[in-house]
Amino acid sequence: MKNYILFFAAIWMTVCFCSCDDGRIYEQKVDIARGGRTLKLTGRFSGLSNWADGYSVVVAGFNDKSEYAVITKSLPVNVADGSEIVMTLGGIGDEVTALKLCVVNRLRECVVDFHTIESEELAAVTDTIMINAGTLDVGMYSTIQSQVFDKKCTMCHGETGSASGNLFLTAGKSYDAMVNQPAHKNSDILLVKPGKAEESFLHLVLNRDGDTNMHHLDLFSEKEQLSLKLIDDWINDGAFLNNK
Ligand code: HEC
Repeated sequence: MKNYILFFAAIWMTVCFCSCDDGRIYEQKVDIARGGRTLKLTGRFSGLSNWADGYSVVVAGFNDKSEYAVITKSLPVNVADGSEIVMTLGGIGDEVTALKLCVVNRLRECVVDFHTIESEELAAVTDTIMINAGTLDVGMYSTIQSQVFDKKCTMCHGETGSASGNLFLTAGKSYDAMVNQPAHKNSDILLVKPGKAEESFLHLVLNRDGDTNMHHLDLFSEKEQLSLKLIDDWINDGAFLNNK
């Protein structure tokens, strides 16, 4: 008799556990449907912690209607350079039409982006979107180099081996060529004077053509003015090459 009781108790418990399990799986499914898609980012990053106040390296979702990210998550700043980061951004709703690994300012506007997944690619994904960023130096100066100088300046300033205005803005050369160095055009002014953007020749050339007459003002569209602010903020923050 005892054996029978044990036998039935065992069956009853099995049924119980099974139904509990069922419940949990069901709940998870409901959550995914309600919460939208998830972005999974992997990569090895360096320089995450050496940004001036107000800037963050993030994964972010944008919609068609505004310049401001509708959803963001910062990459961790307290990890050693080069260690692998795996992080997720959940709850990406249907209104999100672009996902970016980017730098945002205080207003959550995208200042520069390292990787973008646009609408068509995004629309095809129903649950998890993967970004593998590989190995990326996202430090403040490295970012100015890769996203501004390499894209807009080096074709004249050094890429071909010679440099307009005798100024090399290529990677590995640009920092030493500018920081605390007198301008070729006007040796009374430093190209980059740490802490003083408005007294730096770099700023004058890019923002106030009247002072320098060097015809560089058209290089940045209205939308790219954030890049100019980025350069100024880097100078005002101390014009560091790497960590502070
Ligand atoms: C189409 C070619 C071209 C591009 C693109 C260009 N420059 Fe120049 N840049 C020049 C020329 C030419 C001069 C020299 C002008 C002169 O001496 O009057 C110059 C001079 C300068 C100077 C002054 C150098 C000195 O020591 O006197 C700075 C600073 C400068 N450029 C920064 C930049 C930056 C930053 C960018 C990218 C955002 C850029 N330039 C893009 C052609 C270019």
